[in-house]
This record gives sequence, C-alpha cells and structure tokens, in this order.
Amino acid sequence: MTTDTIEAPRITNLEIGADGVGVLTIDAPGEKVNTLSAALSAEMQEVIERLETSTDVKALVLLSGKSDGFIAGADVKMLARVRTAEDGERISREGSALLCRLENLPMPTVVAIHGACLGGGLEVALACRYRLASNDPSTQLALPEVQLGLLPGAGGTQRLPRLVGMQAALDMILTGKRVRADRARKMGLVHEVVPREVLRERACQVARALARATQDLGHIPIQPASEKRPAVSVGQLVLQATMPGRAMMYRQVKKSLQKKVGSHYPAPYLALEAVYYSRGHAFQEGLDIESRFFGQLAVSEVARNLMRLFFATTAMKGEGWKDREGHVVPPLPVEKVGVLGGGLMGGGIATLLADKGVRVRVKDRDMESASKAAGYAAKYFGDKVKKRHIRPYQKDMAMGLLSVTDQYTGFGTSNLLIEAVFEDLSLKQRVLRDVEAVTGPDTIFASNTSSLPIAQIAQASSRPQNVVGMHFFSPVEKMPLLEVIVTDKTADPVVATALAIGKKMGKQVIVVRDGPGFYTTRALAAMMNETIKVFVEGASVEAIDRAMRDFGFPVGPMALIDEVGFDVASKVIHVILDAFGNRMQTPDEAFLLFGSGRLGRKNKQGFYLYEDAKKKKEVDPTVYDQMPYGRDRREIPAKLISDRLSYAFMNEAAMILEDGILLSPRDGDIGAIFGLGFPPFLGGPFRYMDTVGIPQVVARLRELKEQCSRSFEPAGILVKMAEEGRTFYNGR
Ligand code: NAI
Repeated sequence: MTTDTIEAPRITNLEIGADGVGVLTIDAPGEKVNTLSAALSAEMQEVIERLETSTDVKALVLLSGKSDGFIAGADVKMLARVRTAEDGERISREGSALLCRLENLPMPTVVAIHGACLGGGLEVALACRYRLASNDPSTQLALPEVQLGLLPGAGGTQRLPRLVGMQAALDMILTGKRVRADRARKMGLVHEVVPREVLRERACQVARALARATQDLGHIPIQPASEKRPAVSVGQLVLQATMPGRAMMYRQVKKSLQKKVGSHYPAPYLALEAVYYSRGHAFQEGLDIESRFFGQLAVSEVARNLMRLFFATTAMKGEGWKDREGHVVPPLPVEKVGVLGGGLMGGGIATLLADKGVRVRVKDRDMESASKAAGYAAKYFGDKVKKRHIRPYQKDMAMGLLSVTDQYTGFGTSNLLIEAVFEDLSLKQRVLRDVEAVTGPDTIFASNTSSLPIAQIAQASSRPQNVVGMHFFSPVEKMPLLEVIVTDKTADPVVATALAIGKKMGKQVIVVRDGPGFYTTRALAAMMNETIKVFVEGASVEAIDRAMRDFGFPVGPMALIDEVGFDVASKVIHVILDAFGNRMQTPDEAFLLFGSGRLGRKNKQGFYLYEDAKKKKEVDPTVYDQMPYGRDRREIPAKLISDRLSYAFMNEAAMILEDGILLSPRDGDIGAIFGLGFPPFLGGPFRYMDTVGIPQVVARLRELKEQCSRSFEPAGILVKMAEEGRTFYNGR
C-alpha cells in the first residue's frame, strides 16, 4: 500500500491507500482508552469535511489504534461539566449532527471493532454502513448511558431500534448490558465477526468491495444489518411490527421499569420514550427528542451523583497504598493463597481466586466440609461453561488451580492466607496459631471476619505486622466490595498486597482502620438495630421493607436479616453492643427473636415464609406472636421509618469517619453503595448529607432524638461542621 498521509492530527490519522481505501485510525495519545472528547469530535469534523468533497477516497475504514479497545464512550468529565439543560442538549445535537454527516458520506464506511465499544463509540459504529467485530472476548458492545443517569445522546435511541428492533434495542439501552461479538452478529448489530488478526485486512477488503459496489465479498454476502433480523418469535414480531403491538410493548416495559427501578431513576423512562418515539416519527424528530431528554438528564442530581461515583471508582482503580510519607508501597508477590474454612465465604473466595488464575488450597475441619469449596467452584465454573462465557477446558484449568485438604500440608508455600472459619474469636485465634506454625515468616494472614476487631485476632499472632482484615461480602463472586482492615501494627506492604489482590479479584476496595464492625458492619448494625426497634414498636415487616425500598435500597432490612441469618445478625449486634452499648440499645424482645431458633432463609424460618419458593414472598405471621402488639401491627408513617433507619446509618457513618476508621467520605460512600446497597442515586451517605445540608441533618437528628431515642444524638463531627458551615466534599 502506498501511503499518502494527508494530515497528522493528534488523535485521528487518515491514511489513503493506492486502492482508494482511507483508513481512519483513532488513537488518543497518552490515554489508555479512546473517548469521544471535544478534541476528537473537532478532529472528526475536519476529517468528515475533507471526505465530503473527496474524490480520492473511495471507501473509509474506521478503527482504533489502541491494542485493547475501540471507543469507550463519551468523555464523562466533559459531561459532568454541563451546567444547564440547554448546554447538555447542544452537546447532544452537535454529536448527532456529526454522526449524521458520517452516515451520509458519499463513500461507503466500514467500522472495525475490537475491544470495548461503548456508548458514543457504539453510536459512531451505528452510523457506519458495515460493522465488523473481532471475536476476542474483550470485544463488547453496549450503550451504558443509563448507568450514568443519561441516555444515548448521539442517535443511539433512534438508530439501534431501527437496526435490531425495539425489543432488543430496549434490552440494551435500558440495562446498559454488554453484548459480545457473536451475540451482536446474531442480533444484527454487526455484520461479521472475524479473528482479531485479520480484522483490519478484512475491513479493507469489504471497503474495496463496497466501493466497487459489488457483492463480491468473499464468503460473507453483504447485507444491511437491518434486513438481517434476529430470530424472534412470531409474537415478538407482531408486537414490534404493528402500532398496537408496539404500544403494548411500551406499556409492558414501563410497568416492569416501575417495578424494577421505581421512581428514583428518570433515565430509563426517558430512554423508553425516545425509543418508542423512533417508530412512527421522522428520524430527525427522534434525534431532537433524544437531545432534549439528554439535556434534561445531564443536569439531574441523579446523573451528577452517578457520574461522581464513576469518577471515584475509576480513580480508586489506579490508586495504590501509600505509607506515612505519601510514597506508594509496592505489593508483595502472591503466587499461592491458602484459604482456611471452605464454607460459604471460603468457598466463594477460593473460587474467585482460581478464576483469576491464582493457585489456591483450602483447608477445613474434615474432607467433607473441605470438598464443599470444590463443589462451589465446580458449580460456578460449570455455570460459566453453560452460559458459554468460558470453554470446558478453561473450567478444567481453573479447577486444576484449586485443591482441598483437612490438613495443613501444602500450606508452607502460601504467600497469603485468608481465614473464613466460624465467627468465633477463640477459634480464629487458634487457627491463626496453627497456621503460623507451618508457614514462613512473611506469610500474610487475612481474616474475613465480619465484625471481630482484627487487633483482637492478631493478639494470638507472633507476627502481628502480617495480620490484616479482608472483609468480603456474600455472595463473594457477585458482591463488588472488599473492605481491607488495617490495625496499628499491620505493615504497609501487607496492606498494599491485600489491596492488590482485592483488585485482581475485580473488587472495589476500600481500606479502613480497625475497630468493632470496622465501617460497613458497624454502620449496617446501627441501621439494623433501629430496624428491630421499629419492628418491636409495632411496624409490620412489609411496612419496614417497603419504606426502605422506596428510599432506594435494593432489599428491605427485614429481608436482608433473613438472608444474612438471624444467628449472624445476633452475633454482629452483640459485638457492636459490647462496644457501643452506652448509646445503642437493643430492645429485649429482639433477643427473644434471635433465640427462637429462627435462622432466616437457611432454615426456612425468617420474617418471611420460604416453604414454597414459587410463591410471592409472604410474611410469616408467627414472627409477631412474641412481639408487643402481636399480629395487630401499628401504622408507623413510611417517612418516619425511612428517616429513622437512614439517619441511624448516616449518623453512625459520620462517627466512623470522626473515629478515623474511614479514611475519607469518598471511601464511606463507595463502601455503603457497593457493600450495603445504599442508594447510588443519592451518591452515598456522605454525599447525601451534603445534599440535605449538614445543619438540616443535625436538626433532623435532634428531632428524632426527642421523638424516638437518645441514640440519635448527632455525631460531634456533624455538629461541628454545621457550626462551621462545612460539608464533606466542600462543594466538589
Ligand atoms: P460457614 O459456616 O459457611 O463456613 C465456615 C467454615 O469454617 C465451615 O466450612 C467450617 O467447617 C469451617 N471451619 C470451622 N472450624 C475450622 C477449622 N478449625 N479449620 C478449618 N475450617 C474450619 O460460614 P461463612 O458464612 O462462610 O462465614 C465464615 C466467616 O466469614 C465468618 O467469620 C463470617 O463472619 C464471615 N463473613 C460471612 C459473611 C456471610 O454473609 N456469610 C459475609 C462476610 C464475612
């Protein structure tokens, strides 16, 4: 190919070959990923202008210069700076107009997608005539804007339903879910999937053939994707093809949104409107609606909070552990991990480690218990094979990394031990002593305790500098948070290693200082304690759960106690009461409940009935029998319930920050959202307190103290901040 480089802009580079195929490479210098920044848009504009009048470029191939990504979406920083709805609408209109020009170029356009093709990246691809994708697992297509409280603003809500049908488009746009290359081809989103190695070559071949306007494209006939409809049922076709059918689908989807996301997130509703509008209206009208909605959403508090969350989690991914002087401490190498206790948590931790390619050995009391961990892993990897996320040989390889035992043999070479035996201090200390006797002096001991202070466990250690907490959440493979707990004696490289392993396992990691219940368990315990009080005061199980779901938690606290188990909840409450009993009292009736033999879902005796898994969850009325008011529950206003529970949580979170356990409000927000389900649209407890106003939070706490109990005494830090007019984020 003779190359005539006509311009060498910063991000894009257009090379025109002797065959007339222009290859436009997008490669943002110095950036890990390409984003649709203002700078890229400006360059695209220039290139498109050049191509609109070009006579030498017969066909265009668009691809990314990054080795592992196409375009990861719009530049979120730019969107976060939007101040008015008009400004947001303008950005969307400009993006749409640019892509319309790309779509209407006089020459055929072929896009070659390898790696993440997200948001605006997919919208660019949708404006091209032919879409090729590499068959690499990293090639994933999605419109994840709703996850940031937005909707696709550059034609995505209009082009996608026209291409793949309303149902498939809604499925992608309302969930933001990622679609792999093969699936994308089946649904008509891309025309062809090829090995990564030949992606560019094939794109140029297709471009040449399109330029010649022939059908001679090798083994794949060219066909507009819209004609290549996915296999859908007749019923679905009728629904999508007719006005009444589409209206019915719209109503169904709206109903399911109301059930799933409630009223807290406006974006999916507006996205649904925009997609529905795409049928029966001119394309440009649809784009106008989309831009208007985009502007509205871009300035909503929900989108602001979700974008802040995005920035926080992105920043945390790149952060290492720093010593007192502020120097980043490198983690120690971890080649082999020993897990003590192969139950629910130990099994999950071992499985996830094997999934990430780490060798792991699990020890339990006897082989029967130990083999449960292998069973956990077999099910996990088996499900992945069934879903075609991995091949059977990959399952075998991962399973080959995991071994189980009832002895300490084979532990001597472990760099890291993670303990997940029963929640019992003396047992944990015994296990620690036993395992220290068979491992080297540098082996790290991490406890997965959910409430016991790490320093107490470390009292049994001959090398307390190696002892740290790694608090995972259940189910380990699904819950995104890891809370790393550091004592006064934990050495910096040990913290750095726990943090690095957590990230390797795909977790969002927060590091906190040691104390009873650390951060997450202590804040949750404060809320649970208030939950039990409200229950004992006569509120019904449903009323409590409904109030908190309406507040924005994914599950209500009563249902959560059923899941966690009454036994575990009771142990945690005892640990917390031992530490903070002077200000947190639990009514005696709570202990009646905890001692009644009810364990929650695990013995099918909880606040709810579990006998018939198919039936809608119903409250077990016998749970009221030993309680004041019996089955005649009292009406307690939902707002009072949600205020009592959420303010108990937030006040405790503030005290935890004040005590120096949390290192920053940001960590507190991330921990609450990813570990405990605190509503993301509120931005986390600290962000929410800023939004409400610290003086208002203090005033409400004082009212609740007056009305309910002295446990609502506002945290000292809140009172001080209110007096000084400060906020947690200082306007950031
Ligand atoms: P589990 O009861 O499912 O598993 C505990 C395992 O430890 C059992 O397999 C038991 O046989 C084993 N074990 C007991 N003594 C042992 C010994 N001397 N040596 C080796 N293994 C021994 O309990 P789960 O739920 O896995 O909890 C384990 C730890 O994780 C506890 O400290 C708990 O507080 C903590 N945790 C639990 C969470 C949950 O949601 N279940 C969440 C976060 C932490």
